[in-house]
Amino acid sequence: MLDGKKTLFSGMQATGNLTLGNYLGALKNWVNISDDYQTFFSVVDMHSITVRQDPAELRKRARTLLTLYIAAGLDPEKNCIYYQSHVTGHAELAWILNCFTYMGELSRMTQFKDKSAKHADNINAGLFTYPVLMAADILLYQADVVPVGIDQMQHLELTRDIAIRFNNIYGDVFTVPEAYIGKAGAKIMSLQEPSKKMSKSDENPNGSIYLMDDPDTIIRKFKRAVTDSEACVRYCDEQPGIKNLIDIYCACTGKTAAETEKEFDGKGYGDFKLAVGEAVVSVLKPLQDRFADLSGNKDYIDGVIKGNAEKAQYFCNKTLRKVQKKVGFPERIR
Ligand code: TRP
Repeated sequence: MLDGKKTLFSGMQATGNLTLGNYLGALKNWVNISDDYQTFFSVVDMHSITVRQDPAELRKRARTLLTLYIAAGLDPEKNCIYYQSHVTGHAELAWILNCFTYMGELSRMTQFKDKSAKHADNINAGLFTYPVLMAADILLYQADVVPVGIDQMQHLELTRDIAIRFNNIYGDVFTVPEAYIGKAGAKIMSLQEPSKKMSKSDENPNGSIYLMDDPDTIIRKFKRAVTDSEACVRYCDEQPGIKNLIDIYCACTGKTAAETEKEFDGKGYGDFKLAVGEAVVSVLKPLQDRFADLSGNKDYIDGVIKGNAEKAQYFCNKTLRKVQKKVGFPERIR
């Protein structure tokens, strides 16, 4: 507890192009709740190398993501925004936690199973211990809450198990974190296959809206979005395509599904799809403009990167020294 506020940690990987789904489902949510917490938002580049990356590309995407955090509305004076690889505590604590995590636990992780099936030629130890690094991210800052998507819940449960296990042996060292699940409706599906989540790695680019798509592209993708056969704008499970578009419209305009149904009563899919496209443009265009401004200001971004990494290092050293002492590492000579 700092300044009477609880601590919040979250992170995103800088792989693939961020989509509208990442924005509405995660980033926007971070911005909305950030004032209520002492926050740490990391660009988790160390997690990214568990699958092979092009170095120049990874570096570029990491900077883009960090800049997007700020463009989305996270003030870097109030929120600690930094690269995971710039703060040595993550790797140091991950090693220690590796020694408190069982092979059996890690073998059960569904993300590990999925990713090792997808990258069968590179099932490396980092992919296996990925959740331990994630636990280190969270426990280093004594985070009380962690906003995560459903797909990361299993990793968060493991983080809690590791924290509890460690505390049972050594006393109260770690805060046991809680998941913060955003409100329903924020889960955005593919525009082409509404049964699938909108994804950075979708092979069909028409299924996803990328945060950097220009207005014409956005409108065109919405015009092509898959709809249903009832020919009316009604929010129901039988119309997954329309339901998804209504969710997107509501998330961008702040309207409810009922209000949206009423607004488009008697109108066709064409009108509705155009309106959704325009609502999305009105959210993304200002974000893109802020991003362009920030990207042009190299010194400012560099200052954020340096200053916030130092701040993060300071906070995590407190936890790290305590943990090192508990497990029996010799005291540092000052
Ligand atoms: N594994 C998360 C993902 O892919 C990213 C992540 C890494 C994370 N460390 C974290 C999320 C700590 C929350 C807290 O989405």
